[in-house]
Amino acid sequence: MTYKHTKSLDVLQDFILPCRKDNLDAIKEFLPIDKPDFDGSFSTYQLLYGKEGNRIYLIGLGEEKELVKLEETFRKLAFETQKHWDKTIQVYAEDLSEDQIKKAVIGFEMAQYQIGEYKSEIKKDQKTVVSFSSSKTIKKSLDEGKFTGETINKIKALVDAPPNIKTPEFLGKWAKKSAKEADYKCTVLKEKELEKKGFDAVLSVGKGSVNKPVVIITEYTPKKTKKVDITLVGKGITFDSGGLSIKPSTNLHYMKSDMGGAAVVLGVVELVAKLKLNINIVGVVCSAENAVDAESYRPGDVINSYSGKTIEIIDTDAEGRLVLADGLSYAVKKIKPEYLIDLATLTGSVVRTLGYHAAGMFTNNEEMAKTTSDIGYKVHERVWQLPMFEDYESDLHSDIADIRNFSGNPLAGATNAAKFLEAFTEDHEKWMHLDIAGVSFGSSPYAKMKSASGYGIQLITEFIKSKVS
Ligand code: BES
Ligand code: ZN
Ligand code: ZN
Repeated sequence: MTYKHTKSLDVLQDFILPCRKDNLDAIKEFLPIDKPDFDGSFSTYQLLYGKEGNRIYLIGLGEEKELVKLEETFRKLAFETQKHWDKTIQVYAEDLSEDQIKKAVIGFEMAQYQIGEYKSEIKKDQKTVVSFSSSKTIKKSLDEGKFTGETINKIKALVDAPPNIKTPEFLGKWAKKSAKEADYKCTVLKEKELEKKGFDAVLSVGKGSVNKPVVIITEYTPKKTKKVDITLVGKGITFDSGGLSIKPSTNLHYMKSDMGGAAVVLGVVELVAKLKLNINIVGVVCSAENAVDAESYRPGDVINSYSGKTIEIIDTDAEGRLVLADGLSYAVKKIKPEYLIDLATLTGSVVRTLGYHAAGMFTNNEEMAKTTSDIGYKVHERVWQLPMFEDYESDLHSDIADIRNFSGNPLAGATNAAKFLEAFTEDHEKWMHLDIAGVSFGSSPYAKMKSASGYGIQLITEFIKSKVS
């Protein structure tokens, strides 16, 4: 799809008429009839025909509080009706703010996502031109919306990709290609370099798979100074069988999505580069496959890590915290960023706690917590803060190593995982961990089975924007 700005609406051609709940008066002048069967409820629409037989879609923006998820209204309309559209469709955007126009474009873009990438017959791309009529200057909103929507679709395609194709090496190739296209730097560390550099925890998790682990480092650093403003670390488990502490087979196929954190990191760096934000960002993706094999690491093993701390493995299914431990240590030792954020589909516990509507947020930095929480509401990718009290620390004490990867107790699982990560941050003062296990992948009206949501791209990009000086 392409997006265009026009000053006025041609009422004899097809157009979309956004309408707030119970506010038909605001759009009365464009209505061909007095009382359409429509009240502006969120994510509803009504098709009317104009004088020339042109299509007029009334679409519901709902109440004030629902405006934060405006994408959804446009996404649904486009998803269900775009096959009938002519070459151009207009949007009456006079009453939409620049931010709302951006959200609308994101919605149109999200409707272009094709989940059936691996079907033998692929649907043709929609070539519609969407023309927003507004007296404001909206070029920036259109461009940002398009880049954001495209990135969301790209990371969704990654998360939805099958694990036999989406190996750690595949993620590395994806990042290299993206770096070339969006003009940033990408380094993929393979097995030999990981051994040399001491990424022992990543290597241990990946030992049981023929698809060898990688660590991907993406760097977008446009500023004159070398100081890195923000480092993002992502969990990139391309398939989590649980390892020798094997998971039950029900829903095991969904564990292809255990690289949702990595996808956000890869997507955000690409998007920030495309938006040309004046901020130095580094992404670190720790990717491995947690497989079952004679070579697999075992419960009971003591492994080493990038930090030098030894870890007693209690459960090989608590593998995400191990790869992240190396990513975080690498970030604090080598990159030394001002802000450090990690994203991971880390625990079933966070899903049981918060369900599918918010990510678990862990930080000792209240400013980061407040900023992230506020942005979360604004972009409708919400977070909820969970505790980091010292009292949880003793759960991770090991008799024989510096730390153990699981208490053995099914209590406070998301906090325990966060406390484990904290042990590898060298008390970094601006560190935040987001457990996105419940929000990164799930049910939606757009697919039969669970699928990627795209959660995190807007949240983290807006957080980064808030730190551009
Ligand atoms: N990848 C899982 C967490 C997960 C669960 C993600 C559900 C998405 C949906 C993670 O590696 C895991 O298995 N965590 C265990 C840890 C436990 C063994 C300490 C969990 O949460 O059950
Ligand atoms: Zn696991
Ligand atoms: Zn996992």
